[in-house]
Amino acid sequence: MDIVVLVSGRGSNLKAICEAYKTEKIKGKVKLVISNRKEAGGLSVAQEYGIPAEFHDPKAFSSREDYDRHLVERIRQENPDIVVLAGYMRILSDYFIDSFEGRLVNIHPSLIPAFKGIKAQKQAVDFGVRFSGCTVHFVTKELDSGPIIVQAVVPVNPDDDEKTLSDRILQYEHRIYPQALKWISEGRVKVSGRNVEVEGARYGELPVNPALEDF
Ligand code: GRF
Repeated sequence: MDIVVLVSGRGSNLKAICEAYKTEKIKGKVKLVISNRKEAGGLSVAQEYGIPAEFHDPKAFSSREDYDRHLVERIRQENPDIVVLAGYMRILSDYFIDSFEGRLVNIHPSLIPAFKGIKAQKQAVDFGVRFSGCTVHFVTKELDSGPIIVQAVVPVNPDDDEKTLSDRILQYEHRIYPQALKWISEGRVKVSGRNVEVEGARYGELPVNPALEDF
């Protein structure tokens, strides 16, 4: 399964995904990494793994849709099976989402539908929930709301702050994202409306549902 990954920041999820490809847990290639920020650590991560890495400057385009049209054209040249958002901090236009419908995935650091949008971990700490986590989901036009592939739950402790909770959640992000991509690559992910089934997976266990197999 060939993928193109979009990043804006540090790129730790990208690294976990690249490692899964490198060790052939996932077969195929990370063909290209694109960033909308020049200084994104994700660009260096890509280079470390010998993957082409490109910065595409949103400021060179007059509207969100123009930029996205440009990205779609560039991504299509790579002919990926899936487009992976890994810390891509830009609202996508409907044009972009329509272009890769059903083939666009994201990770969000909360148990959606709780705490959508930015600073999800801070939202969880501020709200005082006892559990939060992370979600890999298909992308639809409603922000952080598409069909859920896998979620991991982590406890929130009284002495947590945004940083400590983010670190705890991130450990699971690095496991569930490559796992979800592997399931997709194996053709086991079936979507029906909002509901997703991973064929042959174990359900009903904590902290990751469906249960991890490989990560
Ligand atoms: C992660 O917490 C991810 O869930 C969110 O943005 C962060 C990206 O981190 N969407 P990284 O760039 O993968 O290290």
